[in-house]
Amino acid sequence: MIRATPSVFDASRSKSGEGIGSFVERHAPDSTYTYYGSGKIALRDGLAGLVDPGENVLVPAYLSPAVVEPFHELGLESRFYAIEETFEPDFADLEARIDDDTVAVMSVNYFGFPQPGLERIAALTDEHDCYHIDDNAHAPISVHDGTLLGTHGDFGVTTLRKLLPVPDGAVLYRTSDEVRAQFEPSPLAGRSDQVGTADCQFVATSVARRLLETAPSLQRSVDAVLSDEADPSSVDPRSRYDDAKIPMSRVSGAVASVADPDPIRAARRENFRTWQRVLDGRDDVTPLYDALPEGISPYEFAVRASDQTAFLEELNDVGVVGAHSWPILRRSVREDETYETSIRLANELVALPVHQGIDPSTITAVGDRLRR
Ligand SMILES: Cc1ncc(COP(=O)(O)O)c(C=O)c1O
Repeated sequence: MIRATPSVFDASRSKSGEGIGSFVERHAPDSTYTYYGSGKIALRDGLAGLVDPGENVLVPAYLSPAVVEPFHELGLESRFYAIEETFEPDFADLEARIDDDTVAVMSVNYFGFPQPGLERIAALTDEHDCYHIDDNAHAPISVHDGTLLGTHGDFGVTTLRKLLPVPDGAVLYRTSDEVRAQFEPSPLAGRSDQVGTADCQFVATSVARRLLETAPSLQRSVDAVLSDEADPSSVDPRSRYDDAKIPMSRVSGAVASVADPDPIRAARRENFRTWQRVLDGRDDVTPLYDALPEGISPYEFAVRASDQTAFLEELNDVGVVGAHSWPILRRSVREDETYETSIRLANELVALPVHQGIDPSTITAVGDRLRR
């Protein structure tokens, strides 16, 4: 079975290593960083000292609904800019939305790859004298052309939950001098030194998962229930944001401090390439990224499927329970034809797991079953 996230029991990839902190210090020596429980609170704290209510932030339309909530809490308006099929901003649309009250433009490095057009976004934010936020929630250890993703721009964030078997965890990177000078950590900054509810729940569910692995049919029922509960459309973005107001749990801090980034990245890259081979030749499924440049740690293997529901069912039938569509767009985006490309992408995209807990031979075996 291929699930969405790695498990704490994936012993082969959980050998102790340099830890996330040392990796960040090695690849982004000019940035300072702080741990958080969630990327959303890291975004809020990064901006808090720099803005006044009534200003606005531009974000790509192709985004999960709760990600703009930290801006709303600061009294800011979120404005969505349209994107191209490559995820590059539609620059005409982006520029038309910038005005005197624009305080920041956010880019998003989707699936572990740099968002196309990063340099042009940086030039625009310079020209309009606003901040550039580098949202790298998807891939904490992706390095492109010598830069750790998340450390372009004035400040950035990443989410450890998308890399490691942890219940929570994020990093705020502060790159520009001004952001560093204005930063004041809220009480949610940093790592908790207490064992809390998140730690206990995580350990309990990890143990339960381990037991369920011996009973695949029961596992499938549990996964169905859990995925219903996790359906973002059933929870309003504000509640999701309020749930994210937690410091980084002790268990996440412990896992992050011993994680071994290089072998994790190598395993993810190998699984990415294995999916490439397995799906090659299917004319109903088109990978979003053909090349895998050096240093990239893919979050998932993203494809566009001509029939998203049918492909997800096909994958589920051969045991890929962790494949999913992404994202559920915010209603104001979903209902606006200006965002036609984002809407189409959300209706076609299927993300396949590549995490370090998967052995490539499992993906190859899935490929054989898919072909039958
Ligand atoms: C692009 C993007 N940015 C930010 C976030 C927020 O991260 P977190 O869930 O750690 O608050 C997410 C979460 O999925 C995301 O996909």
